[in-house]
Order: sequence, then C-alpha cells, then structure tokens
Amino acid sequence: MKIGVLMGGISSEREISLRSGREMLANIDTERFEPVEVVLDTRDDIFEKAKGLDFALLALHGKYGEDGTVQAVLEALGVPYSGCGVLASSMCMDKDIAKTVLRQKGIRTADWIIARSLEEFTKESMAELGARVVVKPNSGGSSVATFICDGYEEARNGLEEALKYDTEVMIERFLKGDEITVPVLDGEVLPTLMIKPQKGGFFDFTSKYEEGGAIEEIIELPEELKNEVNTLAKGSYEALKCSVYARVDFILNDGKPYLLELNTLPGMTKTSLFPKSAKGIGLSYKDLITRIIDISLK
Ligand code: DAL
Ligand code: MG
Repeated sequence: MKIGVLMGGISSEREISLRSGREMLANIDTERFEPVEVVLDTRDDIFEKAKGLDFALLALHGKYGEDGTVQAVLEALGVPYSGCGVLASSMCMDKDIAKTVLRQKGIRTADWIIARSLEEFTKESMAELGARVVVKPNSGGSSVATFICDGYEEARNGLEEALKYDTEVMIERFLKGDEITVPVLDGEVLPTLMIKPQKGGFFDFTSKYEEGGAIEEIIELPEELKNEVNTLAKGSYEALKCSVYARVDFILNDGKPYLLELNTLPGMTKTSLFPKSAKGIGLSYKDLITRIIDISLK
C-alpha cells in the first residue's frame, strides 16, 4: 500500500508542516506500507501529486491543508486520507464557527468578536471584552500573528498585523491561566499535558517550536477537574464532528477549563504535544502513526 505523506503547503505553518511530515515519513511501518514523500508547494499541486496514492497521511497545518480543502480534493479523487473529514476540518479551522457551535453546546470559551477591518473595531466593541485581549487570525495556527494586547490602541495595532494573515481576525477576552491540552484518538482522550512556556508570557511560536521553549508534561489533575476536562474534550470533538484524532486546547482560568480551540491536524514534530501524550499510554511515535492509519482506514 503506497502511503503519501502530504506536507508543506502554502499556509503560514508550512515550515512546521515540513517538520511534522518528515517525522511521520520516518515512522511509517515499512513492513506494511510503502512511504512516499509528497511536498505540496502550490495550491493546486495536490491534484497531480495525490494521484496514484493508496492513502494520504496528512501532515499539513493551516489553510489549504487543515481546513477541509485538501480533504475535499482527496474525496473527489477517491484517495482515503488520515484524520477528520471535510466538515470537521473546516469548522475547527474557523475559530469563530467552532466557538459558536461549542458555546451553543454549553462549552465554556472566552468571549470574542470578529473584525474584518480596522474600521469595524471600535472602542465600544473592545469594552465588552475587557482591557486585555488576545488578537489572532480567525483561521490561523501555531500562534502566528497572535498578540496579547493591553488597551484599545495596542489591540488595533495587533488587528492591523493579523489582518495581513487573514481576512477575519478574532479579538478575544484575555484569560489568565495555564494552558493544557488533551489529545483525542478515535474518540478516546489521552493524557492531559500541562504547558509552561519558558520564554515570554504565553505559548507563542517561539515557545512552541524552539528547543527548551516550553515545558510540556503529563499532568494528573484533581479527579473532578480531570473528569470535567476529559468530558469537555470528548464533547467538543463530537460536537464538531471530528474523527480519527484531534487535539483540544484549554486555558485553566480560576480553576475552570475554557476551550481555546481544536486542532484537527495537530503538530507531529519530534517534540510535539500529541505524540508526547501518546507515550503516556505506551504508544511510541511509530505506534501512533500506525494507529492513525488503521483508524482512518476503518
Ligand atoms: N497548529 C499546530 C501545528 C498545532 O496545533 O500543533
Ligand atoms: Mg492551533
């Protein structure tokens, strides 16, 4: 069975995708599968490069990769692929849609607004969120163009920068607290990881990908909180119609978990969170890749 590992792409997370992809490629069980490196460099590359594959293992992140577009092309070409389907991928990539659905289901998430231009963002709309906000591209990832801003002027500057990356920008109430993440594999939650950024105030691009940028450890939460977090992670995964795997991120604010986002193609670099958590249940990186392939083919 010829398995193409699709990586690269044209999103702001291309470099991370290449790192995820090379790691996945190196960990395919060659006794069962024939791995092929497939680097996507343009938006339409997928049409030619996916032909002849028996399965596409997706290592793409961000736009035109994690957002349902590549998944839709693969559906049309009849090539089975790993991870979530078209709808879940596109809903989760659009943070505004994902949070709207989750709030409707009673899942706690920080207040937010969406701005499409500087004019649309007024002092009054900022006032609803508080004096400190997080500004980020609505369909971004890896904290690219994500800013914690104090006051309206700073938030406006953040918005101006984030608008270079997306036509829609999310401005969210800032919640102080530790970030935790819960991987979900085939509908079952894996161990929770606690994230402690070592540089700067939050889990930004540098602390995500630089050696020693953050300490990420499996954490045993108090029983009640653990049950709540696991229920919320599973509930969000189901509410957004995810399948195979996804990673659910939260902020613990005043002891309460607030959902940040779901990642339908979470980072799979050597030091990424999902494989780190999987190790906690005895799944090596290689086992995890085999499981993802097998579950996707089910
Ligand atoms: N968007 C990055 C790759 C992650 O969520 O891990
Ligand atoms: Mg993300």
